[in-house]
Amino acid sequence: MTIRTTGMKLAMAAAILAACAQPDAPPAQAAPVPEPTPGTDRAVAVLHPTEGSSVSGLVRFEAHPDGVLVSVRVQGLTPGNHGFHVHEFGDCSRPDGTAAGGHFNPLDEPHAAREAHARHVGDLGNVTADEEGGVETEYVDPMLGFAGAASILGRGVIVHADEDDLTTQPTGAAGGRVACGVVGVAAPAEE
Ligand code: CU
Ligand code: ZN
Repeated sequence: MTIRTTGMKLAMAAAILAACAQPDAPPAQAAPVPEPTPGTDRAVAVLHPTEGSSVSGLVRFEAHPDGVLVSVRVQGLTPGNHGFHVHEFGDCSRPDGTAAGGHFNPLDEPHAAREAHARHVGDLGNVTADEEGGVETEYVDPMLGFAGAASILGRGVIVHADEDDLTTQPTGAAGGRVACGVVGVAAPAEE
């Protein structure tokens, strides 16, 4: 009887969860949505090393009441600051990462720090690698988005060899590109 009762409880819990999960979800028989929609609230970029680099990482983007929560993990860097930006194109096809173009700048503003009010939307400043060359950080950015002109979906993420000085136009003089990734729609969070 205990097993049966547990099973019933699980079934009830599953039914309640299903009922609460997505009140606006289409019926089960509807065709799956094959492309990014304005409802996207999670994205991910896997960072791959460019030629001659051993820098890799993972960046997660998640909708937040104040913008987008950015969670960054990178390994293989030299200790210290490294420019970190969303670039215009989600194109890592060239070995040196240059196919990703310049900083994502849909509002036609100057290059600046992440904290600046006027900046490239893609200006996320620097990430700071520890003694082992690793980065693990997160922050909420007010300018990134998943819809409209500032949507980062399909754009590139670049980690640079050098520090972004936050002033030099239009690149921050951050040097070569040591890792490149493409921002894609992420699977829903696992509860
Ligand atoms: Cu960059
Ligand atoms: Zn910039």
